[in-house]
Amino acid sequence: MQQLRVAVVGAGAAGLCAARHILSRPDTFAPPVVYELTEHVGGTWYYEERTGSYDNGLFIHSSMYRDLRTNLPKEVMMFPDFPFDPQLPSFLPHQEVQKYLERYCQSHCITPHIRFSTVVDEVSPVVTEGKGPMVTWEVTSRDKSGSRNTETFDSVFICSGHYSDPHIPSIPGLERFKGKVIHSHSYRHPEPFSGQSVVVLGAGASGLDISLELGRSNAQVTLSHGKPTLPFPLPYGVHQATPVEEIQEDGSLRFQDGSITQAQVLLLCTGYNFSYPFLEPARLGLEVQEHLVTPLYRFLMPPAFPSLFIIGICKIICPFPHFHCQVQFALAVLEGSVALPSRAEMEEEAQGEMARKVERGVQLRHMLKMDKEQWGYAQTLAQTGRFPPLPPVTQSLYEEVWRQRQVHPQNYRQLNYRLVSDTQWEQQELHAGE
Ligand SMILES: Cc1cc2nc3c(=O)[nH]c(=O)nc-3n(C[C@H](O)[C@H](O)[C@H](O)COP(=O)(O)OP(=O)(O)OC[C@H]3O[C@@H](n4cnc5c(N)ncnc54)[C@H](O)[C@@H]3O)c2cc1C
Ligand SMILES: NC(=O)c1ccc[n+]([C@@H]2O[C@H](COP(=O)([O-])OP(=O)(O)OC[C@H]3O[C@@H](n4cnc5c(N)ncnc54)[C@H](OP(=O)(O)O)[C@@H]3O)[C@@H](O)[C@H]2O)c1
Repeated sequence: MQQLRVAVVGAGAAGLCAARHILSRPDTFAPPVVYELTEHVGGTWYYEERTGSYDNGLFIHSSMYRDLRTNLPKEVMMFPDFPFDPQLPSFLPHQEVQKYLERYCQSHCITPHIRFSTVVDEVSPVVTEGKGPMVTWEVTSRDKSGSRNTETFDSVFICSGHYSDPHIPSIPGLERFKGKVIHSHSYRHPEPFSGQSVVVLGAGASGLDISLELGRSNAQVTLSHGKPTLPFPLPYGVHQATPVEEIQEDGSLRFQDGSITQAQVLLLCTGYNFSYPFLEPARLGLEVQEHLVTPLYRFLMPPAFPSLFIIGICKIICPFPHFHCQVQFALAVLEGSVALPSRAEMEEEAQGEMARKVERGVQLRHMLKMDKEQWGYAQTLAQTGRFPPLPPVTQSLYEEVWRQRQVHPQNYRQLNYRLVSDTQWEQQELHAGE
């Protein structure tokens, strides 16, 4: 049998994971072509001090900020077959994750297959009629010199990341705000905000973490969000408010409860939009909205074109273990060891899943949140794709850390853990000061 040719868009954690597993199956797959728009691997984890655009005019990809530490311990965060350095603490500064990904790349000899400084402009299916319809993929890319190149593949893995295109909520009168408006995508460190009044909008991981950083840097922070009041004490200088409803004529912010404030900075920690500028969704039978892509069979592939895989679209997951399972399942599909249902059945399953969420009252923008469902999902992929499932200890330690994070958002990163077995972890001694 001829080896299958696979293109991988992006050399972040997902793209490296895809390349690693493709390279481990040389009987079926030719070495992949990995397209990467920057000059390095790591994606999100490559800290970029600049904001705005690169020299070539493309938007800066990474949303990493200078003092970020992981919110998952390395024992949960790791690819299950590639541990972090055992000497490191459980919660890591971003530089250590970048080093880890570089080591993963080197250990699996991926670098020679990456085309750096090469942006994918277009991925489109080509359908030819043989014994039945045959699909191949044309990938058009552009290198540093601007020269364009189109190549043909049997399959494409979209690993271009999901945290780069800032979601800007529609706030009536936003243009009237007289201070500075920035999105967390362009936040790097707290010093420029010292002594300033900052309204942080959104209390997801970015909103909460950045509010705490700003508070420590002597900014007066109003954390404005639509969640129930956060149940833990916030440090001096940080207080909560309801969501911003409007910017008034005089530039002041009016909150949902009617209270009003002036601020020098409005920092939008309001998440990210899905964005695949190189795809033509309608042609793939897909609908791409700001917070939703449908229909995707197993949150992974369009039923109309099941040789295209979008890795890591779900939220509230353990990203690296999740990619590890999705990639292996996708390769099992391509190898033919997973028999896919018909297009109609895949569509029905994907749409049924969404319909059940709507019935449960899940809002459109939360449809791709997995949370507790991630474990059953990963287990099903492993069973169907016939590869080792995630060890149960990943789930139990993830749940413990999640619990700690809800109670001690400022201190949970001081704890250290150790994996004792596939089913057991233990907590290690406390480290002083965070
Ligand atoms: C601020 C922040 C903090 C986070 N903290 C954690 C954490 O503590 N723990 C955790 O597990 N996860 C964390 N995450 C989630 C993180 O996104 C994942 O860990 C992981 O890095 C995602 O990998 P990815 O490969 O899907 O995407 P990315 O890391 O975004 O990589 C995508 C790659 O694709 C390239 N690319 C994009 N478009 C093109 C194109 N058209 N052509 C060629 N190349 C392209 C980009 O340059 C990039 O290198 C965090 C995310 C953010 C934003
Ligand atoms: N390692 C770390 O410490 C760390 C730090 C930052 C980010 N991260 C990771 O980065 C990824 C992105 O996180 P994120 O926090 O940037 O995005 P996010 O998880 O999508 O959170 C965005 C938040 O903004 C809220 N929001 C949106 N519009 C709003 C509005 N108009 N008013 C009030 N609130 C609004 C959303 O509320 P709804 O939920 O109601 O929509 C949501 O809570 C996640 O994977 C996260 O784990 C990790």
